[in-house]
Amino acid sequence: MFFIGAKLFLAGALLGLSAAAHPLETEGESCEAPHRAKAVYFLTNEDLNSVVSIPINLDGTLSGGLTTPTGGNGSSTVNATGGPNGPDALGSQSALTVLENLLFAVNPGSNTLSMMKISEADPTVLTLLGEPAPLPGQFPVTVAASNKNSLVCVGTTGAIAGISCASYTSQGLGEMSPLISFNLNQTSPPSGPLNGVAQTFFSEDETRLFTTVKGDPASNNTGFVSVLPIENFYVYSGAHDIRSSPNGTAVLFGSTVIPGTSTIFSADPSFGAAILQLNPFTDEVSLVSKQIIAGQQATCWAAYSKERQSVFVTDGAVNRLVELSAVDTQIVSIVKLTNGDPGLIDLKVSGRYIYALSPGNGTNPAAVTVVDSFIGRQIQHFLVDGLGASKSSQGMALLE
Ligand SMILES: *[C@@H]1O[C@H](CO)[C@@H](O)[C@H](O)[C@H]1NC(C)=O
Ligand SMILES: *[C@@H]1O[C@H](CO)[C@@H](O)[C@H](O)[C@H]1NC(C)=O
Ligand SMILES: *[C@@H]1O[C@H](CO)[C@@H](O)[C@H](O)[C@H]1NC(C)=O
Ligand SMILES: *[C@@H]1O[C@H](CO)[C@@H](O)[C@H](O)[C@H]1NC(C)=O
Ligand SMILES: *[C@@H]1O[C@H](CO)[C@@H](O)[C@H](O)[C@H]1NC(C)=O
Ligand SMILES: *[C@@H]1O[C@H](CO)[C@@H](O)[C@H](O)[C@H]1NC(C)=O
Repeated sequence: MFFIGAKLFLAGALLGLSAAAHPLETEGESCEAPHRAKAVYFLTNEDLNSVVSIPINLDGTLSGGLTTPTGGNGSSTVNATGGPNGPDALGSQSALTVLENLLFAVNPGSNTLSMMKISEADPTVLTLLGEPAPLPGQFPVTVAASNKNSLVCVGTTGAIAGISCASYTSQGLGEMSPLISFNLNQTSPPSGPLNGVAQTFFSEDETRLFTTVKGDPASNNTGFVSVLPIENFYVYSGAHDIRSSPNGTAVLFGSTVIPGTSTIFSADPSFGAAILQLNPFTDEVSLVSKQIIAGQQATCWAAYSKERQSVFVTDGAVNRLVELSAVDTQIVSIVKLTNGDPGLIDLKVSGRYIYALSPGNGTNPAAVTVVDSFIGRQIQHFLVDGLGASKSSQGMALLE
């Protein structure tokens, strides 16, 4: 079952090549109307886990919305006294992801991955494709999908932690591969937010899967970036990844690839943010640039803006967006928010608009803040408690 994936992979690669060989088609695309995102998505991550989908209006604002069960259970990491954490219940970026008309979502409480189809007629309407797939690890918190490889990969951070991938078709998910293990000595549910998988994501050319793993400075446990060449994944059983702990980083968290470069931009709540460089020959990752963000408390999420060629980061405990250079991490701007949210977690950028989730804190309700990055101001504070969101909500995805 699993090796069927390799054939799909080759077929996908060939399709990719033939599509790229028709420059006229690409030109055709650029003549279309200015492109606009259609909807945003995040997970309630409640016991009955659900996806909240909200349409985006022409002016970038949100309205309405739907809540659709994933068929699995949400869960939360636990604090020092065993209580559920929240906001930032999962300690991760990308708890769900959208690729074309498909949505993939983790179910931390049932150790499964859900795959859903997004309706062409209405991007808020989701249909589950098959049953949620059982994972070889425990407590999934992050998911990435690759079109070129027809592959979806999940990071788990419980007592059985690591990365596992499955091929998929328009009908549903294949079988998950054996786990590439991380020795985190965690529990299920894990204690958080330190010492755990933060995010899994593909390189721009989709030849590698990156996974950031947070360390715990207090227990002398250094975090790392795992680089898994997708080629290895297919060639060797028990594929191996390459792990590096870039000098000066400790709690590598939410990250984004910087298009057109071999660098990635990572938030690190132990100081701020860093740019890391991949060595394409050794697959090791090293520090290029580091920015200490004054007054930061939990800089954990990052998203690249194509329009501004910069990166926006959020802080779970400070209600603002900080924009940094994608070249040298210099601070470009700070958008301070006064909507009463305690802070922001996962975010996405589409064109000039930024969509950032605040799960609230149990008293303050959950909301999505929409910021226009061209004027550096909030244009909407959209409450989502009525859609089933709460302090355990996590993730942010976008359909363009
Ligand atoms: C999953 O959620 C459903 C609905 O809330 C609940 O009935 C079930 O007990 C949950 N399962 C687990 C393993 O928590
Ligand atoms: C852990 O979480 C519980 C429930 O949210 C809370 O009452 C408790 O104060 C928290 N403990 C610590 C050490 O933060
Ligand atoms: C693993 O964690 C347990 C507590 O959960 C601790 O007692 C033990 O020393 C840890 N082992 C290692 C190798 O760190
Ligand atoms: C932390 O790790 C370093 C390198 O492994 C070691 O030299 C040092 O003694 C350790 N410190 C503690 C407090 O365990
Ligand atoms: C790590 O950084 C420190 C100071 O930030 C520097 O002194 C040291 O040489 C660096 N080590 C490596 C291997 O680059
Ligand atoms: C939630 O956040 C608001 C605004 O920051 C604050 O006033 C309130 O005390 C917080 N509540 C809890 C339970 O932390």
